[in-house]
Amino acid sequence: MKLAFVNGNIATLQGYTLSPQRGENFGDLGLMEKGTVLVEDGYIKEVGKDLPIPSDYQIIDVQGRLVTPGLIDPHTHLVHYGSREREYTWRIQGKPYMEILKEGGGILSSVKQTRRATLEELLKQSRKSLDRMLSMGITTVENKSGYGLNLETELKQLKAGQILNKEHPVDVINTFLGAHAIPLEYKENPDGYVEEVIKMLPIVREYAQFCDVFCEEGVFSVAQSERILLKAKEYGFKLKIHADEIVPTKGAQLAARIRCVSADHLLAVDEEGIEDLANSKTIAVLLPGTSFNLMSKKYAPAQRMIEKGVAIALATDYNPGSCPTENPQLIMTLACLNLKLTPAQALAAFTINAAHSLDLAHDRGSIEKGKIADLVIFDCDNVDYIPYHFGINHVQAVYKRGVKVC
Ligand code: NIG
Ligand code: FE
Repeated sequence: MKLAFVNGNIATLQGYTLSPQRGENFGDLGLMEKGTVLVEDGYIKEVGKDLPIPSDYQIIDVQGRLVTPGLIDPHTHLVHYGSREREYTWRIQGKPYMEILKEGGGILSSVKQTRRATLEELLKQSRKSLDRMLSMGITTVENKSGYGLNLETELKQLKAGQILNKEHPVDVINTFLGAHAIPLEYKENPDGYVEEVIKMLPIVREYAQFCDVFCEEGVFSVAQSERILLKAKEYGFKLKIHADEIVPTKGAQLAARIRCVSADHLLAVDEEGIEDLANSKTIAVLLPGTSFNLMSKKYAPAQRMIEKGVAIALATDYNPGSCPTENPQLIMTLACLNLKLTPAQALAAFTINAAHSLDLAHDRGSIEKGKIADLVIFDCDNVDYIPYHFGINHVQAVYKRGVKVC
């Protein structure tokens, strides 16, 4: 199939395939007004102004609308079962998130529901979310396990992710997060659970590219996280870490030291952690939806990170507890209002920098010759309009590998 998108206000995000946008370059949209994108067999063949259009191309006139790369959501807990709206009410009444977890609720409540669900049930619930994501412009999503906390259910979650990847237009990138919480069976023996997770690594390896750990006070310590992640590296996993989310534990320093592809959350990161990230290739994946939904006064120190040169990506953190939303456009609004990102930076953080945080910038994240033709046409003519007019969906059409899917 050969398509020519003409008259687009194209945010190409070009020029950052080898290294992400950081510092003064963060938010460089590579805007091309009245531009053309030629797509052939699912790939971008050419991008430019006044390109000659061969006669065998079908012309799609986007009439001055904004065209962006497909959005990439690099941190979600897509596959899980059930929901936790009861805890929502408790949290509104003032009960802290970590207290709910200590009492066997929170993540552990989703673990109970996910363990009981069949693969079919998991797929049914996740498909709905994936459809929502696609309708809002997401063409690649990361999916973490971590609501099993035993081999059987972790595998069930990862298999669901693999099936969705095959059957759904959105690309689903699996991450093994066996170390998401200490299961009740190991409450008195957390180190025993660390060993269990390590035993799972070679078995789950064929289902997941990344390994992640929830490094947090009262969950997995820096030492336990390091042990799991270094073992994972030996098995060939790429690494991610939930770091410095609630209290500072020096998780960011660990991420930089062991070369995690990304360190995520980072609300409580300290100055040394910021320095270490700035001097590393590790991408900081920020999740302002989680701060918002947990009614936290704390947001990640994004401005300090930008000033120091940390590369920033954004994600929804879609999950049943701390952030039940699939909407990346709402997350852009929260990032602008609370992290003080410009709309252009928020878009870069959901495209090219998000691609880097999944080690996928070689084939996506920007509109450039040779990359996969994942494109979003927004029903507006500029990037600022998306987070400004908030809470709704601005997508007019989504193309995945050059095929209109929405
Ligand atoms: O990224 N922080 C840990 N894990 C998830 C929350 C999962 C849940 O509440 O179910 C997060 O926010
Ligand atoms: Fe998370």
